This record gives sequence, structure tokens and C-alpha cells, in this order.
Amino acid sequence: MTLSHSRKDFPEDFLFGVSTSAYQIEGHQFGGAGSTHWDTFAATPGNVVNAEDGAVACDHYHRWPEDLDLIRDGNFDVYRFSASWARVLPEGRGTPNADGLDYYDRLVDGMLERGVKPALTLYHWELPSALSDRGGWTHPDVAKWFADYATVLMDRIGDRIWSTATINEFWCVSWLSHFLGIHAPGLRDIRAGARAIHNVLKAHGMGIEAMRAAGHNNLGAVFNLEYTMPSENTDEAKRAAATYDAIFNRTFLGAAFHGTYPDEMLSGLEPHLPVGWQDDMATIRQPLDWCGINYYTRKIIRPVPGPFPAHEEIPGPLPKTDMGWEIFPDGLTHFLTHVAKTYSGDLPLYVTENGMAAPDVLDNGAVQDDARIAYLDAHLGAVREAIAQGAPVKGYFAWSLLDNYEWALGYDKRFGLVHVDFDSLDRTPKASYQDMARALVRT
Ligand code: FCB
Repeated sequence: MTLSHSRKDFPEDFLFGVSTSAYQIEGHQFGGAGSTHWDTFAATPGNVVNAEDGAVACDHYHRWPEDLDLIRDGNFDVYRFSASWARVLPEGRGTPNADGLDYYDRLVDGMLERGVKPALTLYHWELPSALSDRGGWTHPDVAKWFADYATVLMDRIGDRIWSTATINEFWCVSWLSHFLGIHAPGLRDIRAGARAIHNVLKAHGMGIEAMRAAGHNNLGAVFNLEYTMPSENTDEAKRAAATYDAIFNRTFLGAAFHGTYPDEMLSGLEPHLPVGWQDDMATIRQPLDWCGINYYTRKIIRPVPGPFPAHEEIPGPLPKTDMGWEIFPDGLTHFLTHVAKTYSGDLPLYVTENGMAAPDVLDNGAVQDDARIAYLDAHLGAVREAIAQGAPVKGYFAWSLLDNYEWALGYDKRFGLVHVDFDSLDRTPKASYQDMARALVRT
């Protein structure tokens, strides 16, 4: 199996990259980082497969030169990485960790030395425990704390960053973590869920404001989107799916681009939002320079009896990845065209994450991950289709460079283009990496 698409099939200025995040690869025990809510969530029995955490992860903290070489040698143009708030500010606020700032400084210079553009994400989920103790994303001041963190980090590295995203995946930060209880801090509380939604959006807005005021540019945010379908052709099922689509997709896009929440969301969550939430919508709706979309799958939704949101996911019939996620590339074409039309207009769109987990095995020093090559190929085709339909898509990032810490699923789920042996920490490029390198050669 080889990729059928290559660089020449995309516009001249189209960028290819790989994505990772700090807690999933760095090794949080190194370099003076403070405790995060993922450390304590993982240490609480029952939350994470094998109670695994990110203490060592891929030890990228020490092995980053080798990893950046892999990005350069894979012919990628951009590296989408994130910074850990608790590495920069171990207590979430106050005195920065000099080693942490030095580390990100070296990392960014390492990218530039290799001709790779640095695409920074400020928050990819590891909230400092000191802030979690005070209520974390439910605390009214968290947006201000976030803007202050953005300012400290960008003062140090912002002069060399190519693009900056405030938040990775608003839905995961808020709903998955405070209502569904699946990610840290593991709450199952509708009021906490509603407040986390609003506060993470406000953090985005205040973060953008602070960075603009400091003269930084090419600022955006990253939305995870799931194509939503009703389980059957009834009004009840359609309503259930519309509610899912509202909470998952339209709440965050609507707030960030239009300054509004969808009616289906307000019908259940308005009573739980902070008093005066309407006054924040202008802050949330900031002019952006680009929009990032993380896309993996679709969901089929059916109604269930009971209180809001009164729906559940059911398994679909399509082939699935090791996450149990259906493979549905058409959904990516849909979102790229729909988001441009409805929300972001002419702004550059980037597919900031796309990829699949597979039970990859190292065999004679190689990994033949044909299923991943097929997945990437189908989604690159979906991107080309969106471009053909007029969507302003300017780049595609594969998730992920390395096998890494897949949150509540620990080290079980392998998403990397590069295999990581979690005992020796040896890296072995998989067939998908070799094939991407071949497809992305610049001629
Ligand atoms: C996304 C996350 C990323 C990774 C992939 C599989 O939701 O942004 O950290 O876990 O899913």
C-alpha cells in the first residue's frame, strides 16, 4: 500500500505537518514542571487504562533533537506542538520555571534550524493542579489566568512562532472532561460542564486579545468536529442528533465566529451558565487569522429517555479504527466546505489533526501499517475534494508524529507515524512515515 496523493496534487502554498502535544510526549517529570490535573486523574484508580500517566511518555524533553530530525527528514513543512502551562508556570500563575521557558526556546530554535515552521498550541489539556484546586475551568478567573500564561510564554518565544492556537478542542476541555467525566478532571456535573464551555471560550477570547495587544500575529484556534447523523429518520432521532451536533460542533464555532450559542445548547445549559454570560460573547468573538479543524470520525446518535441532552451514541456499520471510530472521510470534505461557508469565510483552514490508531507491531525492525496509509490517503483525497469545491484549505497535519500517551487509554492506542517502544523509548519509522516522506518530497 502506498499513498496515491502527493505534494504536487495540492496548491503550491499548501503546507504539510505533523501534530503532537506536550503531556502526551514530553515526560512531565522532567525539567521542573508543576503537577497537572492529568497526573492526579491518572493516579486515581479506574480513570486511565493501567493507571498510566505522562511522567516519562516519549521522553521528548530529552530526545527532541532526534524527533525534530524525523520531522525534517519526513519532508514536513510545519510542526504543530503544544506547550505545557505547568512547565511554564508550575503553580499556574506567579513565578515562571526558567528551565521550562529555556526548553521551549531551544525547541523552537531547533525547528527553525531544520527549516520547520513552529505551530504552537497554548493549551492541549494539562491544567496546572494549583488551578484545578481552585476550580480550574469552572473558576470565573480562569480566562484571565490563561491570558497571563499566554503572555509569559509568548514574551519568550512569540518572536519565532509561525502560528499560535489558543485552545486545542474546546469540546474535550469542557464537555468530555466536566460533564461526561472521561478526561481530567473527571467531573460529571452539568453546571460544571456549562461553565467550562463558557470559560474555555472566554479564555480563548482573552488569550487572543492579550496576544494581539503584544503584537503577535497568525492567531487561531482548533476545533474538533464530528459528523453527526440520526439513528433513524424520525423527528425524535433528528432532534437528538441536532442536540449532539449543537454541543459538539456548533457551540464552539458559533461562539468563536458569531458570538452566539445555538438554541439547542441554550435549551439545556442556559440555566447553568454564569450570570451575565451574554456580556462575554463580544470578548469570545475575536477576529482570527485562521481556523483549525481536527477530524477523525462521525457519530450516529439516538434519543434516550431522561433529562437533557437525552441522547447516546450507537456503533455504526463502517470499518473502524482501533479506537472504535468509524472511518468516514466524506465528513472531512463536509466540514471544510461547511465551516468556511457558515463560520470562517475566507480565512485559511487547516486540518490540524487527522489520523488513526492501529495495533501496530514491530516486526524485524519495521512496522507495515497499511491501514494507516489507507486512512491518510482517503482523508487527503477528502481534502482535495474540499479544495476542488472552493474551500480555502491551506494545510494538513497528521496525528501524530509518535506513538504517545493517548489520555484515558494510556499507551495502548498507537497513532504514530513513528513507532515508540515504551521500554527502550527507541523510535522506528513506520511504513506510513516512509511513504509520507516520499509523497512530500519537494521537487
Ligand atoms: C484528539 C486530541 C489528541 C489525540 C487525538 C487522538 O482529540 O487532540 O491529543 O488524543 O485526539
